[in-house]
Amino acid sequence: MVDTLQINSGRLWGRIDELAQVGAIADTGGCSRLALTDEDRDGRNLVLTWMEDLGMEIAIDGVGNVVGTWFGDDTDRSLPSVMTGSHIDTVRTGGRFDGNLGVLAGLEVVETLAENEISPLHPIAVGFFTGEEGARFAPDMLGSLVYVGGMSLESALDIEGIDGKRLGDELERIGFRGVTPCPGPIPKAFIELHIEQGPILEAANTSIGAVDSVQGISWTELAIEGQSNHAGTTPMHMRHDAGFAAAQIAAFVRQVALEIGGNQVGTVGKVDLHPNLVNVVASRAVMTVDLRNTDEALLQKAESRLREFCVALSESENVEIKSKVLARFEPVSFSDELVDSVVKVSKSLGLSVQQMTSGAGHDAQMFARICPTAMIFVPSKDGLSHNPAEYTSQGQINDGANVLLQVLLQLAKEQSG
Ligand code: GLV
Ligand code: MN
Ligand code: MN
Repeated sequence: MVDTLQINSGRLWGRIDELAQVGAIADTGGCSRLALTDEDRDGRNLVLTWMEDLGMEIAIDGVGNVVGTWFGDDTDRSLPSVMTGSHIDTVRTGGRFDGNLGVLAGLEVVETLAENEISPLHPIAVGFFTGEEGARFAPDMLGSLVYVGGMSLESALDIEGIDGKRLGDELERIGFRGVTPCPGPIPKAFIELHIEQGPILEAANTSIGAVDSVQGISWTELAIEGQSNHAGTTPMHMRHDAGFAAAQIAAFVRQVALEIGGNQVGTVGKVDLHPNLVNVVASRAVMTVDLRNTDEALLQKAESRLREFCVALSESENVEIKSKVLARFEPVSFSDELVDSVVKVSKSLGLSVQQMTSGAGHDAQMFARICPTAMIFVPSKDGLSHNPAEYTSQGQINDGANVLLQVLLQLAKEQSG
């Protein structure tokens, strides 16, 4: 019975669609729910209602992480939970699957167990973690980082967002400053279902990614101070042009990623110029650099080459460049045993599966610090994500959620240390 159990694909697809209506970006299918905005609050309240309807016990901690725990009739409440989940915040121009899938598939697993009167030995917990995207409040994976004790609650509450608002104030404002202590209870294991957000599974025509690692992430904010001056009268050799310096850095980030090659990627996703006018040399530029690599030594090499470039540039252009680390996480390896179980379960369900690394950051990489962890990926159409056009079919989602169901069941039915 348990091996042939299937999630309800229509119900899961329906919840994904309903949540996507909150902060929907008109005519695109995508959504905009930056962390701790009104839209995030409304999305949180909807998911909370679903958790309550399922009879889950809900805990909200000091940084706004929400964990719903489900107990069957014969569940031993003294045992640690088997945990799944992800995030429901999005980037400003996000899709409907990134993060949301992992949370809603967790609820779907709980509902499937409940309606089939299957009572696991361990409780099953489904969490959604604050500010995974890092697009409003850096670093990314902030809520799960605090959950596992990697950042103090006080430091997290004091983080300033891109709009100058303080995280703790925004949390209070939307009514999600909870009382459950952080760090949170250590789960028996953590397993997260997520869309791949890249092109690999689709190109290989493979249904499931058994994710064994996550690449390292380095986010830096560079603030460049030059001097504003008249665009028509200032000779080229007399400029201290913060806009030009920003453009040079952006081009260098691309160049260094190509030179290091392999898995090295580099992105300048945000540049703000001041005063941002057609006929004024920019006095100030604030920009972000996102560098990632699966290899820590190579990631450090990319970081040091960027530092050297900025020193040389500040001299040649006579500008001041200040640098601030927004996020820095080393590459993470997941549990061999759990990755194996994702592979085995996928094969037993007749699904093609391949082991792979994750290019994106995920809450699971934080949980890997405290308990056996792995992830399940499903394909992304055209490898698109952080884009309203992000798409994974209902059938592909159904496959991933059924793998999640069986892996969670295996973990929750056996008692172990
Ligand atoms: C989170 O989505 C990240 O990888 O930037
Ligand atoms: Mn995500
Ligand atoms: Mn994302």
